[in-house]
Amino acid sequence: MKSHSIALIPGDGIGRDVTAAAWTVLETAAKQSGFALAGTEFPWSCEFYKDTGSMMPEDGIETLRGFDAILLGAVGWPAEVPDSVSLHGLLLPIRKAFAQYANIRPHRLLPGVTGPLRAESFDILCIRENTEGEYSGAGGRVHQGTPDEVAVETSIFTRAGVERILRFGFEQARARRGKLASVTKSNAQKYSMVFWDEITRKLAAEYPDVTVTSYHVDALAARMIMQPESLDVVVASNLFGDILTDIGAAMQGGLGYAASANINPDHSVPSMFEPVHGSAPDIAHLGIANPIATIWSAAMMLDHLGERNAAERVMTALEATTARGIGTTPGKDRTEAITAAVVAALS
Ligand code: NAD
Ligand code: IPM
Ligand code: MN
Repeated sequence: MKSHSIALIPGDGIGRDVTAAAWTVLETAAKQSGFALAGTEFPWSCEFYKDTGSMMPEDGIETLRGFDAILLGAVGWPAEVPDSVSLHGLLLPIRKAFAQYANIRPHRLLPGVTGPLRAESFDILCIRENTEGEYSGAGGRVHQGTPDEVAVETSIFTRAGVERILRFGFEQARARRGKLASVTKSNAQKYSMVFWDEITRKLAAEYPDVTVTSYHVDALAARMIMQPESLDVVVASNLFGDILTDIGAAMQGGLGYAASANINPDHSVPSMFEPVHGSAPDIAHLGIANPIATIWSAAMMLDHLGERNAAERVMTALEATTARGIGTTPGKDRTEAITAAVVAALS
């Protein structure tokens, strides 16, 4: 029987609940579709940091390299470990080490879920650059704690990095409704963002079948709310994409519905699948975290592993569940009840 090896990193807070939920669904789907999933769980988290002084072992990346995919819950427990330590010790290094440069985040309403907008017919795919830009990590602080203190954090945009994410966006647009929104702030940031716009124009010549429009990020944020149905694929830099996808999550009913895939398309290293949301300390341990975002991310993982049929079956089961009103009202259904309903819809 075909088998895929999955590294499970539940992480912190509700990350543990939603990963367990998604794994239950995955195991059922795999059994029904006739392939195996071999999961290995890693306890890397803020707890692990408190015990060992690091978020993952020194050879953590090398350990993950051997897996077919990574399923991650959420990282961060700011009351005990600064976010700047925990995220730079686990999530962000994984995205960079495996060049998971395309962060794919679909935004649409599942059946039965009411979003805050009047427009209900949007279907937006955000493609977020995931390895450089504003998250390059280049910078430093000098004269710390003194009145002369200086903090510098430099965005780094490389031609290779910008070109590959834009190309990925064009390809996605070509496979969907043929529209690409390229997002910058080139009116204010006259080096990196003008560079991004130039590369967008250059690539547009190779994709005559794709209609590409460049937007400033502030205007695009407003457009997502006011005319969401006008958007198809949106491609943005790391930080802009981060912010726009929390807007997208809100549009689709909340962070509990927003899925995400950190993809390296060449398959030589593992890609990572995780919800858009974080560890939600405010609802951790209550058993009410919505697992739908992570189950959707798990379906994206199946698709990436080549298990298209199982991926579709998980999405169909998820949609059947929300169509019945289960998991559609925040806080009403417990994590376990939503998971059980998805599993039942699979059978
Ligand atoms: P968050 O996404 O954890 O929570 C924001 C709000 O959304 C909270 O009110 C929370 O209860 C709600 N929410 C989130 N997911 C939900 C779900 N599945 N079901 C129901 N409600 C849900 O964002 P935050 O509070 O800014 O961050 C908390 C911690 O998580 C921080 O340490 C942050 O750095 C980290 N974080 C990690 C990731 C990640 O690992 N990918 C992503 C975002 C934030
Ligand atoms: C996300 C998160 C992360 C990001 C944080 C936790 C570093 O907000 O995946 O959207 O900004 O990439
Ligand atoms: Mn985010």
